Amino acid sequence: MDIISTPDDMQGRARQWRSQGLKVVLAPTMGFFHQGHVSLMEYGRTIGERLVVSLFVNPAQFGPQEDLGRYPRDLDRDVRLARDAGVDCLYTPEAGAMYPPGYQTFVEVESLSQGLCGASRPGHFRGVATVVLKLLNQVAPQVAVFGEKDYQQLMVVKRMVADLDAPTEIVGRPIVREPDGLAMSSRNTYLNPEGRAAALCLYRALLAARELVLSGAKSRENILEAVRQIIQATPGAHIDYAALVDPVTLQEVEAIQGEARLLLAVWVNNTRLIDNTLLSESRLCCV
Ligand code: PAJ
Repeated sequence: MDIISTPDDMQGRARQWRSQGLKVVLAPTMGFFHQGHVSLMEYGRTIGERLVVSLFVNPAQFGPQEDLGRYPRDLDRDVRLARDAGVDCLYTPEAGAMYPPGYQTFVEVESLSQGLCGASRPGHFRGVATVVLKLLNQVAPQVAVFGEKDYQQLMVVKRMVADLDAPTEIVGRPIVREPDGLAMSSRNTYLNPEGRAAALCLYRALLAARELVLSGAKSRENILEAVRQIIQATPGAHIDYAALVDPVTLQEVEAIQGEARLLLAVWVNNTRLIDNTLLSESRLCCV
């Protein structure tokens, strides 16, 4: 596995691959890999001839009060995991090379970025969209893979690529969970044992919603009420948002017609966790 650490070298390598006609796949990450990241790598490896994983803790997507400074990092372990997953190139640019002095261009995906996580993290999706477009330009992949764990992010990136005619297909992949159901996240390391136990309320709430829908419930208020009860009954947990939305526009829906997405953001002590699931009127869906 190669490690490439500057945008120039990355673009040079990408040009080489293009001239050889190779299909390139990119999985963008901020590192501290877990099985969710590895699942993107393993999938990426099966659909392309060169797999690039970018590892960049992007300052532009963190607010001033957020966890940029303490975001978990372990490059040696990440290198091992990426190598084991069959990654061809780990791309690790420095912040100073991504945003050199004089940098002033940002991408705004307007309404999709505004509600949900965008409401509690102003500027977050502007930072995400900007860095993802830069990575797409540097790596020039035919396909880029993202997790459904960050569902709003996936929709923002899909919209950006469509709106700006970027020649990359964006593919969403399922959420990978711990054996007890907690969605894997680099931020789970912030949880102490009580927090780790409380964090299960997100998954329990998603399961309860799924059960309700299977038994015929459709209305937003019924579903969200059940979700809120479970989370509010969990010591140390409080809801940032719980929303039932159209899976593409992310606009709130009054009731499930066809498919809807249930999205949750919950504070567990000082850690903000997100999770989501598809709710479908007609068939069993998995979380
Ligand atoms: P990061 O949080 O490191 O996540 C990198 C990718 O892994 C994202 O596409 C995310 O959705 C996916 N992922 C995380 N946890 C997952 C899980 N439990 N199951 C499946 N996929 C999971 O998301 C980012 O980094 C950044 O915002 C980034 C897109 C790299 C831009 O900076």
